[in-house]
Amino acid sequence: MSQIKVAVIVGSLRKNSFNRRLAQALALLAPKPLVFEEVSIAELPLYDQDADGNEAEPVKRFRIQIQEAQAVLFVTPEYNRSIPGVLKNALDQGSRPYGKSVWTGKPAAVIGVSVGAIGTALAQQHLRNVLAYLDMPTLGQPEIFLQAKDGLFADDGQIGAGSRDFMAGFLQQFTAWAQLYQP
Ligand SMILES: Cc1cc2nc3c(=O)[nH]c(=O)nc-3n(C[C@H](O)[C@H](O)[C@H](O)COP(=O)(O)O)c2cc1C
Repeated sequence: MSQIKVAVIVGSLRKNSFNRRLAQALALLAPKPLVFEEVSIAELPLYDQDADGNEAEPVKRFRIQIQEAQAVLFVTPEYNRSIPGVLKNALDQGSRPYGKSVWTGKPAAVIGVSVGAIGTALAQQHLRNVLAYLDMPTLGQPEIFLQAKDGLFADDGQIGAGSRDFMAGFLQQFTAWAQLYQP
């Protein structure tokens, strides 16, 4: 089975982000064909249509990193019942200039953890809306809405024992999904 390079985009810039911890724990659990690589969105300037065709270096780098990936995993918190602005900015930066979107056709999955009880459900729904427009086939099931609680992560940084099988199932489904879209 050939490798599938997965660009992991974390929708939080926070140093001790639960979502980054989640992304790192998922990387430890990922089945062999998936190779996770976080693509940072921290250096991206705010999208400005006047810069189309004359993008800043961080934007150029970001676009190349997405182009080189064969799948994308979004790991995001929920901000005010939607996705964080930094994540929307990254999606916009990758989508332009018009006709040159780097997202088109890339298989994707979404997951997230928040402190609230609905565990990023609304953020994920908003994100799915944007990904549909960007023409990214997005894994439908299983949906995973996580609340940051003791035990979610084990001391060694892995997913805690209580959720590990469920997360492994998610990654298996994502692998099968991503494989469908490889040339
Ligand atoms: C601006 C802002 C808005 C937030 N809105 C929500 C929200 O709508 N739902 C929710 O469950 N948590 C919300 N939170 C709390 C986040 O779940 C919490 O800060 C979480 O730790 C963010 O993820 P991170 O640890 O990966 O940075 C919000 C936090 C911030 C800073």
